[in-house]
Amino acid sequence: MTDVPTNDLLLRALMRQPVPRTPVWIMRQAGRYLPEYRAVREKAGDFMSLCGNPELACEVTLQPLRRFRLDAAILFSDILTVPDAMGLGLYFEPGEGPRFEHPVKTVSGIRKLIVPDVNEFLGYVFDAVSLIRRELNGEVPLIGFAGSPWTVGTYMVEGRSSRDFSTIRGLAAENPAALDTLLGKVAATTIDYLNAQIEAGVQAIMIFDTWGGALGPEDYRRFSLAYMQVIVDNLDTNKGDHRIPVILFTKAAGELLSDMAETGCDALGVDWTTTLTDARRLTGDKVALQGNLDPAMLRESPEVIRNGVAKVLESYGNGPGHVFNLGHGITPDIDPDHLGACIEAVHALSPQYHE
Ligand code: CP3
Repeated sequence: MTDVPTNDLLLRALMRQPVPRTPVWIMRQAGRYLPEYRAVREKAGDFMSLCGNPELACEVTLQPLRRFRLDAAILFSDILTVPDAMGLGLYFEPGEGPRFEHPVKTVSGIRKLIVPDVNEFLGYVFDAVSLIRRELNGEVPLIGFAGSPWTVGTYMVEGRSSRDFSTIRGLAAENPAALDTLLGKVAATTIDYLNAQIEAGVQAIMIFDTWGGALGPEDYRRFSLAYMQVIVDNLDTNKGDHRIPVILFTKAAGELLSDMAETGCDALGVDWTTTLTDARRLTGDKVALQGNLDPAMLRESPEVIRNGVAKVLESYGNGPGHVFNLGHGITPDIDPDHLGACIEAVHALSPQYHE
């Protein structure tokens, strides 16, 4: 199988090469806003059974591509499969979110954490990747992903979604060496995990750092960015004559985008609290940018959505290096037709920026 898909707009844009229009994909494009997703999820029983079944994970990965003119597929999985493989026992409390049977509560718990053999514990993910690549039949690229060690660490230490991250921030203040041990083990597992995804066939990588923005700038560099740097430095991104582009996304990164651009990554995800004009200035055109329509905009009428898309495209401006996306994942309450209007607006309005 050749590794360059028929539609390679995403890969070209991520490498800041010229494209005839702006490529588009959507964070959480396979998810509960789609009735066909809810049907498969129902059949699987619970969310982890869906992630753990390569056929069903492949099916839900492909669902949004049947409905919309998207330029990429993203592997259906979750960032919390990594701590699950590290022995924490992930489950989802219906209507509440992720939980761990064995959250990391003590320093001796951190010392005992293992860096697992990813093939043994996460083989179902690599099987899903191979299956999705086969079913995509070279049409669009497949994006693989993982969470940043900091973001994954917040769930491991808090044991659940958190508002203020008091436990892990307490650890950062009182015992930074112990937190380093934890983040180092998550980073080592994540490197093996992402390299195995690449081996299985993903054509771009995204690292989700949903909670890095909760840290002050110094702690962000020390506990979030430093561990994303270790990952970037250790990914097998050279595939023969082409590169597997790497996208880093810290939500609410603001001015820290300029530090992120120095890691050697290819692109940065940007949320809607920073304009793409500012993001482009902060990153000095060193990297491509991905984003950043406010997901709440998809609740509005198709006309308002189209105006929102126009503003995002205008804010990036002329030239290559932009991948259209939302500033964060699509929420379950969105009417799929509204997402359709958004994607069609990108197709219609973006060519003028690439003349
Ligand atoms: O983007 C995609 O389509 C690929 C799939 C994907 C999921 N989660 C599926 C999912 C990706 C890339 C993720 C990443 C993820 N998971 C992040 C980082 C990105 C972000 O949104 O900030 C985080 C923080 C998680 C952890 C997580 N997973 C939480 C907090 C929850 C529960 C909250 C919620 O939205 O329900 C999940 C569950 C989850 N992961 C769902 C999906 C489709 C919903 C599960 C369901 O079907 O009930």
